[in-house]
Amino acid sequence: MKTVRVLTGITTSGTPHLGNYAGAIRPAIAASRAAGTESFYFLADYHALIKVQDPARVQRSTLEIAAAWLACGLDPDTVWFYRQSDIPEIPELTWLLTCVAGKGLLNRAHAYKAAVDKNTAEGNDDDAGINAGLFMYPVWMAADILLFGAHKVPVGRDQVQHIEMARDFGARFNHIYGHAYFTLPEAVVEESVATLPGLDGRKMSKSYDNTIAMFADPATLKKQIMALITDSKAPGEAKDTEGSALFQLYQAFATPLQTAAMRTAFADGIAWGEAKQQLFAVIDAEIAPMRERYNALMADPAAIERILQAGAAKARAIATPLLQELR
Ligand code: TRP
Repeated sequence: MKTVRVLTGITTSGTPHLGNYAGAIRPAIAASRAAGTESFYFLADYHALIKVQDPARVQRSTLEIAAAWLACGLDPDTVWFYRQSDIPEIPELTWLLTCVAGKGLLNRAHAYKAAVDKNTAEGNDDDAGINAGLFMYPVWMAADILLFGAHKVPVGRDQVQHIEMARDFGARFNHIYGHAYFTLPEAVVEESVATLPGLDGRKMSKSYDNTIAMFADPATLKKQIMALITDSKAPGEAKDTEGSALFQLYQAFATPLQTAAMRTAFADGIAWGEAKQQLFAVIDAEIAPMRERYNALMADPAAIERILQAGAAKARAIATPLLQELR
């Protein structure tokens, strides 16, 4: 059987929350255990600088995200787990790809275009306040991917265009230099993966400030869950599972049997307070063992650093020879 290389990056600009866990960390770690797969997961700290220019925050986030993935069971011995800024071949390849990337294609990248459109709407100069990092982002991402010969790149819908651009730059490079140096990657958009609602019912996202921290202490976790917005139906009144953030969250952490029981409880008019207690119980049951490992790792940053350095050496064993060949 041919091995499939799967690669994805995590931008280190925030603290991991339950939405990241259910939507990215949990499925990625499960996938990394599949036979015939080589998994590459990296901390995209240089990407983070496009948005976050506070070094302490990027460093803290890098540590937290590394600790979170390790605490959730990522095995650094069987996957490639590294920090982008430890791999100098990534920026070097970025330049080689920059020289084959169509500027017109970059002009049409969604993230850049959205920033330009916002400026136009506000009557500003097209490029006001836009750094060239945002503009070059798709080339960087192409370098992240092409350097390691990834076949598949699991991403959110908003990132599909970037993977198509990576294919475009890779194909152009192969064509110009007359050799198939690069594997052309495919985006994988996992439709079945849970998108969790946040405390206000909208998608859980740092930008809505509605997240539930992944590794808060149990008392804080409970307090956050108790603050989850519900409708004003009284105890005893039947409740809708459809459109209920509470139910969706419950489903993401409960067994199918527990979920069926909760569905019945909704129909029977369970009180919101009681339903929230049960939600806290299922989340805490899943998170508690990881929280312990997370806290232990966060108390020993040098241990995380050693893992990342070993990961960088393992990744560079692939990257360095390829760059030598390209040079
Ligand atoms: N841009 C991705 C995001 O915001 C993160 C990322 C950086 C990435 N480099 C990547 C994802 C390479 C996949 C492959 O989610």
